[in-house]
Amino acid sequence: MGQFTNKKAIVLGGTSGIGLSTTQMLRDGGAEVIAGSRRECEIDGVECVQVDVLDREALSALFEKHHGFDYLVNAATGGSRAVGPFLEMDLDGFQNSFAKLWGYTNSVRLGVPHMSQTGAVVLISGYPARRWRAGTIAIGSVGGSVEAFIRLGANEIKPVRLNGVSPGLIDTPMSPLKGEERANFYQKGTSGHIIPRAGTTDEVAAAAIFLLENEFVTGTIVDVDGGAIAS
Ligand SMILES: NC(=O)c1ccc[n+]([C@@H]2O[C@H](COP(=O)([O-])OP(=O)(O)OC[C@H]3O[C@@H](n4cnc5c(N)ncnc54)[C@H](OP(=O)(O)O)[C@@H]3O)[C@@H](O)[C@H]2O)c1
Repeated sequence: MGQFTNKKAIVLGGTSGIGLSTTQMLRDGGAEVIAGSRRECEIDGVECVQVDVLDREALSALFEKHHGFDYLVNAATGGSRAVGPFLEMDLDGFQNSFAKLWGYTNSVRLGVPHMSQTGAVVLISGYPARRWRAGTIAIGSVGGSVEAFIRLGANEIKPVRLNGVSPGLIDTPMSPLKGEERANFYQKGTSGHIIPRAGTTDEVAAAAIFLLENEFVTGTIVDVDGGAIAS
C-alpha cells in the first residue's frame, strides 16, 4: 500500500521533465495516474492521453470521464515562449508565452468541478517570476501571473487546495542542448546561485508530492531553486 492508494491523479504535461517525474512518483505511491499532453506516449503503469491544455472541449471531456478524481497537476508549458531582451522582443511572442497561464486556467476552471472535495491542485511557476535574469522577462511575467492566480484562486476553489512549485533552473528535455554545450548552459546559468547546479526533475516533483499530500497547505508557492531567488 502506497500513500496514494485509492487516489486518482491527472497530470497535464505529465509526459516529460518535471511532469513526468511527478507522474512516476504518484504511480509509485499507488495512485491511478492519467498523464496528458499532445504527444503519444507510453509510461509503465500509467494511462496516457493525448490532450492539448488549450483545447477546452477535450479537457472537459477528460475531466468528465474521470469525475471524482483527487489530484490535478499541470506542468504543461502550453506552447512557444519568447526569450530575449524586452526592447527587441517580438510582441506576439511575448503574448504567446501566456499560453501556459491559459492552459493552467483552463485546467483549474474545468477540472475542479469534477474533483473530490478533498482534492488538491499543483501548478508550476518558475523563479524568473521573482528574480530578473537576462532574456526571461516574458517567462517571468507569466510566472508572476501564475503565482497570483494560485494565491487568489485558492480562495475561489476551496475546499479543493491550490498550490504551486517554483523551480529554479532544472535539467529537463525543455532544453534541446547536448553534451558540453548543455553542461555549460546549466553551469553558467546557476553559477551565481547558492547551490550552483541545475536541479533535477525529481527534486521539483518531490515538492509537488508534498503539496498534494499535506492537507494544511493552500495558496502558497514552494521554491525549489537552489537558492536562486535568495542569491
Ligand atoms: N526546466 C526548467 O528549468 C524550468 C524552470 C522553471 C519553470 N519551469 C516550468 O516547469 C514546467 C515543466 O517544464 P519542463 O522543464 O518539465 O518542460 P518539458 O520537459 O518540456 O515538459 C513540458 C510538458 O508540457 C507538455 N505540454 C506543452 N504544451 C502543452 C499543451 N499545449 N498541452 C498539453 N501539454 C503540453 C509537453 O508535452 P507535449 O509537447 O507532448 O504536449 C511536456 O509533457 C513548465 O511550466 C515550465 O515553465 C521549468
